[in-house]
Amino acid sequence: MNICIIGTGYVGLPSGVGFAELGHNVVCIDKNKAKIDSLNSGKVTLYEDGLEELFLKNLQDGRIKFSTKMEDGVPQADLVILAVGTPSHPVTKEADLSFIYAAASEVAKHLDGFTVIATKSTVPVGTGDMVEAIISQVKPHDTFEVVSLPEFLREGYAVHDFFHPDRIVVGTDSIKAFALIKELYADHKDSPILHTSRRSSELIKYASNAFLAVKIHYINEIANLCEKVGAKVSEVAQGMGMDSRIGPRFLNAGPGYGGSCFPKDTRALVYLANQHNSKLSLVNNAISGNEERKDMMARRIMSAVKHINQPKVAILGLAFKNGTDDCRESPAVDIVKTLIKYNMPITVYDPKAMECAKELLGSKVFYANSMEEAVTDADVIAVLTEWDDFKALDYEKASMLVRSKIIIDLRNILDKEEAEKHGFDYHCIGMM
Ligand code: UGA
Repeated sequence: MNICIIGTGYVGLPSGVGFAELGHNVVCIDKNKAKIDSLNSGKVTLYEDGLEELFLKNLQDGRIKFSTKMEDGVPQADLVILAVGTPSHPVTKEADLSFIYAAASEVAKHLDGFTVIATKSTVPVGTGDMVEAIISQVKPHDTFEVVSLPEFLREGYAVHDFFHPDRIVVGTDSIKAFALIKELYADHKDSPILHTSRRSSELIKYASNAFLAVKIHYINEIANLCEKVGAKVSEVAQGMGMDSRIGPRFLNAGPGYGGSCFPKDTRALVYLANQHNSKLSLVNNAISGNEERKDMMARRIMSAVKHINQPKVAILGLAFKNGTDDCRESPAVDIVKTLIKYNMPITVYDPKAMECAKELLGSKVFYANSMEEAVTDADVIAVLTEWDDFKALDYEKASMLVRSKIIIDLRNILDKEEAEKHGFDYHCIGMM
């Protein structure tokens, strides 16, 4: 199948590489020339476990190509996938659909022969109708179908999730378009395909992301309660998760959820609900609770060093979670921004997200080249992202490098016993 993907971000690029690996001919289009030049020269533009290897293989085999021009991919495509960003509108917080609409109208000009246009970007209910209307202005309606094909892959696990999705949701009333998408995923034998209306499919994506955000917010509140009543959140989460109706995933208490999806999608869903005079109190609470949590976490770090004059803070982790170089809406970045306001000297380190963090934090913090450098002379070590590298912290060495032995582990990944054995005053989430 000839596939053209519009957008080479965290959804477009891994999907493009994945479809190429399945044997399809893929052309990825992006307006960003620097990105396209880099991809054409064999340099992958984002970090995803296992992506580079697959990308290089398929680039060399000629199954995936990159261009800035629609005409290089759209006319020959059987399927055009829209995978452009839908960021939060800075004022209203609704999903900003300008990139989707611009892509649709550009695509429309270059369509040739019957083509399915599938939206993988997370878009509010009704966007498919708008995309259809935009394309109809240029092409007769019997030459295309607009399908909702939401993407559920997680950053950091995008390659794994591409090949092993829990489900493939296809929103369309067209039998022809559904057959094409079924063929596209013919090799995904273990993943059920759910055929729905386009509007249901659009809502499934938002409802799923918001549900997971609520689940995280819930366990974070339970963690707060654990601290008050002397329970351990890890044990509580384990016990809850053993109930198959609840499930064990997304019950890790932490500094709050972040990333380019949950924060923006929860806000967009609430906006949509408000537009339709429909109440979403749980999601609303998760949004405000998550914001408060980041402040609470920053205060926790500050209060651990309040007795120290001019305390130095070592931040381990800036990415919004492990496995990615992305720190968009990362709780770690927001926490550091709060600490900056209190004029504390801060040294930060992340194994993958330093570049992204530099764009957001500028020259207000020191950037270390290693975990050891970050903790040198620190009065408090704060762990904000759950990288495996941090789990392997050498307590013996760290205890000799730091100035004061305090650890605030906001991801509950360090070894409390080991830390205490080496004289650290260790604090984590959801337990005393
Ligand atoms: C999320 C969804 O999980 C994907 O299914 C979806 O495709 C994607 O958004 C999207 O809309 O594109 P992602 O943003 O990559 O994926 O990250 P998650 O793994 O869901 O984590 C989101 C945030 O929740 C992170 O900050 C993470 O640290 C936090 N989290 C996650 C917790 O605090 N506790 C948990 O137990 C799980």
